[in-house]
Amino acid sequence: MMQIHIISAVPSLLESPFAHSILKRAIQKGLLSIEIIPLRDFGIGKHQQIDDYQYGGGAGMVMMCEPLSKCIEDCMSKTTYDEIIYLTPDGETYNQQTANTLSLKKNILLICGHYKGIDQRIRDLYVTKEISIGDYVLSGGELGAAILVDSIGRLLPGVLSDETSALTDSFQDNLLAPPVYTRPEEFKGLKVPEVLLNGNFKLIDEWRHEQSIKRTEDRRPDLID
Ligand code: ADE
Repeated sequence: MMQIHIISAVPSLLESPFAHSILKRAIQKGLLSIEIIPLRDFGIGKHQQIDDYQYGGGAGMVMMCEPLSKCIEDCMSKTTYDEIIYLTPDGETYNQQTANTLSLKKNILLICGHYKGIDQRIRDLYVTKEISIGDYVLSGGELGAAILVDSIGRLLPGVLSDETSALTDSFQDNLLAPPVYTRPEEFKGLKVPEVLLNGNFKLIDEWRHEQSIKRTEDRRPDLID
């Protein structure tokens, strides 16, 4: 069982992403457990403040040390984490290889930032890995966290019904996946490639591999060594 805990200032953003389809099944099967920890519960004063103006001036608030520190230490007192990950646009860019590596861990704590981000000292003190989901800025780390959980969750053994199907995903060989077809055999004049209909699995494998290479050369030449 893999455990993922997520510290969030906007927990309601994380209500739906794990309640459907593959992740829902992973949770029901007891292969994955997800807990959302509301950061506000650790906020300061009667307004449960979690952010403040930044030293040095400038637009945008910064998430304060004390609430985050208390929250993280509370989590750490109950669980020993393999990684404490902060979602941030200046982190290392996420890819399938990182998803594969993270899927082998047992306990992960994700920290979602908001506003201008979290006080640097929280990063210095607790964070073991910083991840960006791409070169664009989100209004908070929650959607990034959902992407991590989704991409990791589907890799856990027993989650996908066909155990091999994650192995044929795009990126698993540094190649994009080949085109796929289902019924009908002809649609608006477009036919399913003949090779897929003849039941010769060696030829089908070869065709799929060629198509993968062709697609990758056309669309993502950067992936080819
Ligand atoms: N928070 C804001 N932007 C982000 C990004 N690109 N990746 C991860 N977390 C973020």
